[in-house]
This record gives sequence, C-alpha cells and structure tokens, in this order.
Amino acid sequence: MKEFNQQITEQLNSVQETGRQLEFIEKAKGYVKKLEEQLGHKPTCCVTTFGCQMNARDSEKLSGILEKAGYELIEDEDADFVIYNTCTVRDNANQRVYGRLGHLNSLKKKKPHKKIALCGCMMQEPSVIEKIRQSYRFVDLIFGTHNIYKFAELLVNMFEADGMVIDIWKDTDQIVEDLPVERKYPFKSGINIMFGCNNFCSYCIVPYVRGRERSRNPKDIIREIEALVADGVVEVMLLGQNVNSYGKNLEQPITFAQLLKEIEKIDGLQRIRFMTSHPKDLSDELIQVMKESTKICRHLHLPLQSGSTRILNAMNRRYTKEQYLALAEKIRKEIPDISITTDIIVGFPGEEPSDVDETIDVIRRVQYDNAFTFIYSKRTGTPAAAMENQVPEDIVKEGFDRLLKVVQDTARERISRLQGQTMEALVEEANEQEEGLLTGRLSNNTIVHFKGDTSLIGQIVPIYLKECHGFYYLGELKR
Ligand code: 5AD
Ligand code: SF4
Repeated sequence: MKEFNQQITEQLNSVQETGRQLEFIEKAKGYVKKLEEQLGHKPTCCVTTFGCQMNARDSEKLSGILEKAGYELIEDEDADFVIYNTCTVRDNANQRVYGRLGHLNSLKKKKPHKKIALCGCMMQEPSVIEKIRQSYRFVDLIFGTHNIYKFAELLVNMFEADGMVIDIWKDTDQIVEDLPVERKYPFKSGINIMFGCNNFCSYCIVPYVRGRERSRNPKDIIREIEALVADGVVEVMLLGQNVNSYGKNLEQPITFAQLLKEIEKIDGLQRIRFMTSHPKDLSDELIQVMKESTKICRHLHLPLQSGSTRILNAMNRRYTKEQYLALAEKIRKEIPDISITTDIIVGFPGEEPSDVDETIDVIRRVQYDNAFTFIYSKRTGTPAAAMENQVPEDIVKEGFDRLLKVVQDTARERISRLQGQTMEALVEEANEQEEGLLTGRLSNNTIVHFKGDTSLIGQIVPIYLKECHGFYYLGELKR
C-alpha cells in the first residue's frame, strides 16, 4: 500500500510540475513578445546538439518549449538566442564547445541583445562550470541534465536576471511528462524509456553526469508513442543508456522485452528501434521477441569496447570475450538477417598490442556491419583516469589504425551481401550532396541513396540495392 501511495504521489508531483512549467511558458511568451517589438521581427533561436541520440531528443524538447514561447527556430548561430546542448563523453567534445564559444562571443559583440545558454552533460562537471564562470562571462544561462524539464522556468529567470543564471542539480528522481516537443523529423522520433546508468564502466563519465538509472512508466511510454503515431510517426527509436535493464526499478517491474511486445501492438507504428544494449543484460527473452516481431528492426547495436577479457575486466564490463562471442553467435543463429554494430575503445590504460589483436579477432568473427571506434579519452573522476598505465599516444594511434582497417574491410564485405536484393527503406531526406537523390534507411540500418521525388520522404518504399559503396548503397526505387 505504501508503495502504491508513493507511486500516486510521484504521478501527482509530475502533473503539478507540468502545469507549473506550462505557466512559465506563458510568462516567457511575454518576454519574447517584448523582444519582438524591440527587434521588429520574430526573435530567432538556434539549438546546437553535440553527442548522442539522447541529446538529440533533449534538443527536441528544448525546441518545443522555445517554439511555444514564440521563437523562430533556425539553424544559424547568428540567431538572437543560441543554446549548446553539450556532450562530455570524450574530451574532444568539450574542446569543440570551448572553441565555438569564442565565435559566439564575437557574434554577441555585434548583437548585444543576443543570449547564450549552455546545457547537457558537460555542465554536470563542476570544473567546467568554474571555467565558464571565470573565462566565458558572456554566457547567460547554464543548466544541467537533471533539470532540463524546467527549461521554461529557467528561460524566465534568464530574462529577469542581471548576470549569468546557473542551475545545476547533482541528481533527481523526477520524471516530468507531457511538455511540448518539436521533432526534427515528422515521421520518426526518439523516445526516452529510461534515464541514467548504473553500470560504472571504469572509463565512462555518463553515470556521473546522467545520474542513476530511472525507467519511465510503460503506460506513459505507450501513450507518448500512440500520440506520435497519430501525428504521423512510423518509426520510433527507444532510448536508454542500457535498455536491457529497463523496468527493473519500477514499482511493478517489467522487462524490456515485455515493453517491446506492448509497443508492437500499437496500430500504425511500422518500425521499432532501440539503443543501447549492454551485452551483460541481453536476455533470451529479448532475442525471442525480436525474432517473432514484424516491427522491430533487424539491427542490434551491441557495444564490445574491447575483445580482450583482461581489458574488459579492467573496464568493469562484466563479460568475457568468450561470453560476448557466444552471445553474438546465438543472436545470429536465431535472427540470421540481423546486422550487428558496435562501439570499440582503443588505448584503454594497460592495453597492449596483443589486446588489440584480441579485439580484431572479435571483429573478424562477429562480422559487424559497422563499428564506431574511439580513442580512449581520460575523464576526470572515473576510475580509469587514476590508472597508472596510460598508453602512449603513438602506440594508441598504431593500434587504432590497424583496427580501423579491419573494421572497414569486414563491414564492406558484410554489407555487400545484400547486393542485388530488393529491400524496404524508410525515406528520410533529400541527399545534400547530389540533387535528385533521396536517402533512405533499411530495417538493418544500412543507408541507401536513390533517385526519387521528395514527396516520398516519410514513406517506406522498396529499393533495389544496386551497388555497395562501403557503408552505403546506391539503389533504385522499385515500383
Ligand atoms: N573514451 C573513449 N570512448 C568512450 N566511450 C565512452 N567513454 C569513453 C571514453 N572515456 C565510448 C564507448 C561508448 C560510446 C558511446 O562512447 O564506446 O559505447
Ligand atoms: Fe557508460 Fe558503461 Fe553506462 Fe554505457 S553502460 S553509459 S559505457 S557506464
């Protein structure tokens, strides 16, 4: 009974908070209107996203609120208001933000009413806030990952404040539903099914900046997807740092596989994707549900990180090379047409060339359709950053190049197996490089370019896969 009461209280809090934020949107409207009168045009706003699909989804939430508040959304940083939604998973993402902030400052000097906001994972690091406070005084608003739902309120604070507004929370258990969202694509959408991560892989900063694992209520997820489908969405991407542990902390626990079965029932929804899966939590139940599904895409992103059991152990990944290989084999046996992609880190502390050989061995055996390879980046505060045996840059580079070559060769060979087949693609956009070409995505996530009219965007159409060009195809529309 106590648990039930707690659940009701949480839901009431969430509804109340949504109401509060909607009131702040109304208040923000007043300020934006005033600015419009001052400028003589609708104020413009640009949301720039760094990092992963989670951030891309968060940016859609920010955009939804900005649009409701009266801003015109544009993709030009000369806008009246610029927001950087930052990433901190690797240090080069941080450096890019600092570099581009300098440019924003010069734009602001020419346009003194310009506002600049920073949010996202990087802002959860105290050292970053200190640096911005000292060296980037021209920033108007800073907030983090846990309080993004109160963006409307922060916007009002920013308009009312004299100096820089900073609001960072260490953690939260609050999940606020039903705030406005402005989607980038009308026909596909990301959906957060959970937030945070409890895994603490020893190299990774995410658990520190995104907090502990929290799953959304299945009913809220289903309701959101039903509303999206009614609004023209045919493909959803379920998002979480570790979707395979979805539902474990709910009052009424449910598995990720059970959630997928419920989502499959939604009429009008045609494709379901998800990411990311941690190999240690991938269940037989999930494999069966994927196998039997007509909507779940034939693609699994299954981060390996390293093929060396010794390094995996130091990374705190909680599986061995053999366990990973056995899992990949089981998946391929049950779902032969599936494509598997992965993430790999080269240069983790203590990694020897023989460890890279082990990783290369896994790449050859699993035959990935694609692998995202990263050079290890030392993240302050993670256990790996304190390890003494950091690998010298030239050795890392040598291992990285060697590994990348194998990834490219095996992926090309693997993807070329589809040549000559006709497969369905969701048409996503007009190709930016070549006029008259469209870009579509197969169920297995492979990209195909083909000639066609832009009226096809958002539809699922049959495409003849004519020529394989490494990671993508040139195809022909079949009618
Ligand atoms: N250095 C390099 N790559 C990292 N990743 C996460 N943390 C680090 C780090 N410190 C990679 C992992 C993860 C992907 C999203 O980013 O491969 O799967
Ligand atoms: Fe980082 Fe590991 Fe969590 Fe992924 S599972 S977000 S790599 S700690």
